[in-house]
Amino acid sequence: MNVPFLDLSRQNTEIRERALAIFADIMERSSFIGGPYVKEFEESFAAFCQVPHAIAVNSGTDALRLAIQACGLEPGDEIITTPFTFIATSEAISQNQGVIRFADVHPDTCTLDPAALAAAISPRTRGLIPVHLYGNPCHMREIMAIADKHGLWVVEDACQAHGAAYDGSPVGSIGTAGTFSFYPTKNMGAFGEGGLVTTPREDILHKVLALRNHGQSARYSHDFEGFNARMDAVQAGVLHEKLKRLPDWNEQRRQMAVLYRQELAGIGDLEFFATTPGATHVYHLFTVRTRQRDQLREYLTGQGIGSAVHYPVPLHLQPAYRPLGYGPGDFPVAEEYARTVLSLPLYQGIREEEVRTVIHTIQAFFKH
Ligand SMILES: Cc1ncc(COP(=O)(O)O)c(C=O)c1O
Repeated sequence: MNVPFLDLSRQNTEIRERALAIFADIMERSSFIGGPYVKEFEESFAAFCQVPHAIAVNSGTDALRLAIQACGLEPGDEIITTPFTFIATSEAISQNQGVIRFADVHPDTCTLDPAALAAAISPRTRGLIPVHLYGNPCHMREIMAIADKHGLWVVEDACQAHGAAYDGSPVGSIGTAGTFSFYPTKNMGAFGEGGLVTTPREDILHKVLALRNHGQSARYSHDFEGFNARMDAVQAGVLHEKLKRLPDWNEQRRQMAVLYRQELAGIGDLEFFATTPGATHVYHLFTVRTRQRDQLREYLTGQGIGSAVHYPVPLHLQPAYRPLGYGPGDFPVAEEYARTVLSLPLYQGIREEEVRTVIHTIQAFFKH
């Protein structure tokens, strides 16, 4: 049996009829940008995250860019984040004239290590961007304590963690702001691009609202320059439908992750990341580690099983960041994981027999 790494059609066919009705309604109204669908989605997502405000934008990347700008950033301010994330996280810093500072990841969870973070703080540090990697929340108690001690803002990058929680608080409700991506492959994906900022702070709400629409406070009155970062009605309508199903979908992911963990435990040199203590993981990705990563991946491909590497090169070693002056050995944990991580098929609608096929194939690889 072939098992693709990802099959988005399963998430999307489940809401097909509702999506078609929404498209028809939007065509009827000819109201394509903003409007009631966006407002309704923002209200539902804010309630879902137990946070006062949610502002829908057109990508996770813009959510990060706008949230950071709204938190206040002067050119040259240092922002600390993890080198083990998608580049959108760090792009948001430099594209706001901030200076990227990386701190290594925790060996148990592969998320920002609070001890490394504390050691990276300098008098120029203004903010932190912890990334809830693979759907697993960061060590937020420790991170927030460091932020409070040094008076730093915290933008949670929750782009991979819709519905995850830490100490009972949904991600996106813990920091100064939270950012989400609705890129189609996410636990809750749009029919295109989409993103969202959450925040408890009214000043950040107003700043992000203006930034997403060219800095306008009223029509053709621009208090400052902003962007076109608006969400369209089709995405909001689709996402609102998906949000209703997300808790069930996340539960299905968790059940399949449990099966992977049970059946792959002790096989070869396979290792798993720990769920952060106090966290509810939503398994955007199910990622294992092995020193034979490339051979295992090749074997799986040969058997018709998809897999992926998130991420093969940590950001501090990317050509784009050569000017920052980092080199091999600077963040050894991230570097080790870049060599060993492998993400296995896990998505809404994956069947138990498919997961068992992946498990048996991995068992067979390690027997050889
Ligand atoms: C951790 C992380 N941050 C930011 C982003 C950017 O989101 P988008 O692709 O919606 O711009 C993504 C996803 O692609 C992500 O995984």
